[in-house]
Amino acid sequence: MWIRAGVRGDLGSGDGLGAALAGTDAVVHCATAAGPRDVAMTRRLTDAARDAGVAHLVYVSIVGVDRAPGFPYYRAKAECERIVAESGLPWTVLRATQFHELITRVVAAQRWLPVVFTLGGGVRLQPVSAREVGERLARLAVGEPGGRVADMAGPEIRTARELTRAAARATGRVAGLRPVVPLRLPGRTFRAVREGALLAPDRAVGRVAFGDFLAAR
Ligand SMILES: NC(=O)c1ccc[n+]([C@@H]2O[C@H](COP(=O)([O-])OP(=O)(O)OC[C@H]3O[C@@H](n4cnc5c(N)ncnc54)[C@H](OP(=O)(O)O)[C@@H]3O)[C@@H](O)[C@H]2O)c1
Repeated sequence: MWIRAGVRGDLGSGDGLGAALAGTDAVVHCATAAGPRDVAMTRRLTDAARDAGVAHLVYVSIVGVDRAPGFPYYRAKAECERIVAESGLPWTVLRATQFHELITRVVAAQRWLPVVFTLGGGVRLQPVSAREVGERLARLAVGEPGGRVADMAGPEIRTARELTRAAARATGRVAGLRPVVPLRLPGRTFRAVREGALLAPDRAVGRVAFGDFLAAR
């Protein structure tokens, strides 16, 4: 595998993609953007990778994309999975659960509000270390194309409410003591999420728990 620092390709416009992919054996596709742009970027990448003779395309997706199709982002991810699988390239798709960073990012985005909103209704998540997912993706990239491989989830399942409260408290600021307000949303997709659509209990292979992640920051 060749790794060339500083070579940039824009999946939005296609600029620089040919140069970025030339002579590349394996590509790990982690780029993402909202909804339809995600699909267009993935199609642009698969076309360019085919032209460049890439031997292995690895794509990171999300556990439950097909079980919670009411989320536009998840619908787009499922479509991206299909594009990768039908690209004609040798491929591997790894679905992972929510990264620890997603939870802290969502809390940080609410730092100016008087409360911190989270998913209610007892929604549970099984967050995983993005670093561990990255390591697995790297191992997959240098291995044989595996199609859809076994999902990757974190070591523990906790409610979104507990995780949000822990992330807020870990900021160490007064703002961390704001009330956490669970939002219960209507609809089939939210019900599926409440029933565990985003979990992979039998694939709890991540070793870093959310508390460890917070403590190490
Ligand atoms: N976050 C989660 O909880 C989670 C869980 C499971 C799977 N995933 C999947 O993992 C992947 C990464 O997620 P993330 O949350 O780490 O995403 P992120 O932080 O939003 O990063 C997205 C990346 O996409 C790149 N990108 C955006 N537009 C681009 C373009 N036009 N051309 C080239 N690169 C472009 C960005 O590059 P720049 O920084 O240069 O803009 C950035 O590095 C996504 O496929 C996501 O669906 C995420």
